[in-house]
Amino acid sequence: MIQSIRGFKDIFGKEALIFEKLEHLLREIFKYWSFKEVKLPILEKTELFQRGIGDDTDIVEKEMYTFLDRNEESLTMRPEGTASVVRFLNEHKLYGQDRYLKFFYIGPMFRYERPQKGRLRQFHQAGIEIFGLSNPLAELEGMSVLNNILSLLGIVDTTFYVNSLGCESCRPSYKEALFDFFDKKEELLCEDCKRRKIKNPLRLLDCKGTRCQENLERAPLISEFLCSDCKNHFDELKELLFLYNISFEENPKIVRGLDYYNKTVFEVHSKSLGAQSALCAGGRYDSLSKNLGGYDLPAFGWAIGIERMIALLSSNFAEEEGLDFFVLMIGEKAKREGLLIVDRLRKANFSVEFDVFFGSVKSQLRRADKLKAKKTIIVGDEEIEKGVFILKDMQKGKEERIELNILWKGDFGKWSF
Ligand code: HAM
Repeated sequence: MIQSIRGFKDIFGKEALIFEKLEHLLREIFKYWSFKEVKLPILEKTELFQRGIGDDTDIVEKEMYTFLDRNEESLTMRPEGTASVVRFLNEHKLYGQDRYLKFFYIGPMFRYERPQKGRLRQFHQAGIEIFGLSNPLAELEGMSVLNNILSLLGIVDTTFYVNSLGCESCRPSYKEALFDFFDKKEELLCEDCKRRKIKNPLRLLDCKGTRCQENLERAPLISEFLCSDCKNHFDELKELLFLYNISFEENPKIVRGLDYYNKTVFEVHSKSLGAQSALCAGGRYDSLSKNLGGYDLPAFGWAIGIERMIALLSSNFAEEEGLDFFVLMIGEKAKREGLLIVDRLRKANFSVEFDVFFGSVKSQLRRADKLKAKKTIIVGDEEIEKGVFILKDMQKGKEERIELNILWKGDFGKWSF
């Protein structure tokens, strides 16, 4: 039997239910914040991610699903949404029409990572991207909508870690200081960090190895290197977060695995997620659009992992919602009447099921219980003759006789759930 691909997962049952509710809620909230949805293609030209995310990043170096199509063009299954949103915005010249743009997207992303709990090769993200604001109001807008989503969902066990990565004018001297610092500790570094030291010493701050972590204790801090523009930006952001009562911790080790960020970066972690504790992450990327050949456009955004949200919400949700009605039919005449009742109730937007195999009364009742029906409508040939049916409350076990006419008049008011 053919099995699914490692790291690619079927979403069904309770998870599918939470996914659907989550998507609905996210769409509603984004709408209130005036974010417009963009449904992006899953395939893009490989160059978009190479230039957008950065050639030296783990994602581009070893995690992309890249292949040549039948026309020998190199295509990639999107590993993230930000570069695609920027491509979309420039391609449709949207910035020419409005100087302040806010988009959201929800959909699958693909990364060839080592699968483990909370880490998949096909996973889903919901993300927002805000364009046109170089001041920290963009961060406030983005982080407050996120804070709102988390509190509406009751996801409270989280920490917002915030950092500034500086800009093109102050970051090089910080990188140099890091290089010098780690150069003296070369023999203590893991193999990955030896490579990172040369390619991008910032990435060393992100190493999870215990020995490298110890090395980090005395490493120089970016805060000592920020230019006045970056420092003011960061200070103002912190003030705005206080204003909105969004709690956060400054964390100089947040450096992110994508190259497009400048100034603000942030990650939201939850201890309940275990080793893969990052629930949401993002930051400012003022040069990405220009680097991709588009508008010179300041931007800020984040993306949240849907599977990780589902894992956090799983205990708050019941298995599957029960039915409004199960229609139990006994006898040939009752079958016809019963099928009409099913149709009538469904058209009135009730959730209704019946036993398509028309089993014994016992087995039909078992099915009603299995489907968690709130009420069962019992129709037998005898009842039909008398123009009634039996309505059984499945929780209380109480039964009442009701005139069939009521159904045809559509008088369901008293049954509303
Ligand atoms: P990212 O940190 O790579 O950022 O991913 C954001 C979130 O996606 C993570 O915090 C995590 O919840 C989820 N995620 C990432 N990889 C996996 C995986 N292999 N399995 C399950 N969940 C995963 C970005 O993608 C940026 N585009 C965020 C951004 C938007 N920055 C600016 N705008």
